[in-house]
Amino acid sequence: MIVPPTPEYIAAAADLLRAGELVGMPTETVYGLAADALNPEAVGRIFAAKGRPADHPLIVHLPDAEHLPRWASDIPREALALAKAFWPGPLTLILKRDPCVPDEVTGGQDTVGVRVPGHPVALALLRAFDSGVAAPSANRFGRISPTTAAHVADELGERVAMVLDGGACAVGIESTILDLSGSAPRVLRPGAISAADIAAVIGRWPSSANHSATPPEGTPRVSGSLAAHYAPSTPLRLLPPQALDAALDSALAVGRRVAVLSVAGNGQARADVRAWLDAPADARGYAHDLYANLRTLDGLGADLLLVTMPPDGPEWDAVLDRLRRAAVGSGQD
Ligand code: TXA
Ligand code: MG
Repeated sequence: MIVPPTPEYIAAAADLLRAGELVGMPTETVYGLAADALNPEAVGRIFAAKGRPADHPLIVHLPDAEHLPRWASDIPREALALAKAFWPGPLTLILKRDPCVPDEVTGGQDTVGVRVPGHPVALALLRAFDSGVAAPSANRFGRISPTTAAHVADELGERVAMVLDGGACAVGIESTILDLSGSAPRVLRPGAISAADIAAVIGRWPSSANHSATPPEGTPRVSGSLAAHYAPSTPLRLLPPQALDAALDSALAVGRRVAVLSVAGNGQARADVRAWLDAPADARGYAHDLYANLRTLDGLGADLLLVTMPPDGPEWDAVLDRLRRAAVGSGQD
């Protein structure tokens, strides 16, 4: 049931969390599927609803940074500085866990992912609940993350007791994940907060995990690091803008129904396709619309989605990461 975020519904959502139920929670990045992080049975319901393997760790969402010591131990000074700079906001920190955090949340690892989300409805719910909430993106495992309440209902239907409607997510792609549990900071998943943003606060550059399509053996269990992720069911091909016309000609020549996601100003829309979407030419705008655009294209009954590569530049890292994974995981059902 999608409900408006009135004080009554927020109180009811906190009660559902206390009762071990699942709640769809808007955040500034994507919608989360929230459960009481200290209740292993409730956390188990998340995995069942998503169809997600149980050893994948979940991010714990907190009402504010003061809650941090309850969930993490050996908190480095850099973590506190980053929390001060970017929370509430789209940055997840991987820290050594406090023993109270259930194995069901950490995937049995000795670390925990934590963040304070920058969305008024999420913060109101977390304050009403006054504890940590485990919340992965509210999509079925491997599928496109939801950026509206309606997307959550499409993905999960009756599997979620209540979805708080917080409007369309401002950021549109998942938080940056920064691992501070090792000897040097490392970005495990790129997001709206860039390596440069992080370096500006802590005075050293984080390294980045290998974001190529085939992650090396032994990388941490970040589900976002699976090659196939965030994916539409329609086969998706990522190609340079200058290769688009030829790819379209050859696909259309054999009778395929094709839809295109291009970048505004990057060539003329063609009329011989099912749909042609022009995404914003700036990285933030592109990210904001990305999952909704992929969902739209996936719903057209096309045989092939052609997506042109966005421009070069570090501000496009997070978008390119999602597009690469969407291409690898696409067309699987
Ligand atoms: O923006 C976001 O982060 C959204 C919203 C709802 O907050 N959440 C999200 O959750 O993207 P999820 O579960 O779809 O992705 C969380 C990622 C997963 O790839 C998970 O493996 C990783 O965080 N993660 C969580 N705890 C971890 C840990 N202790 N060590 C390494 N990776 C961890
Ligand atoms: Mg996810």
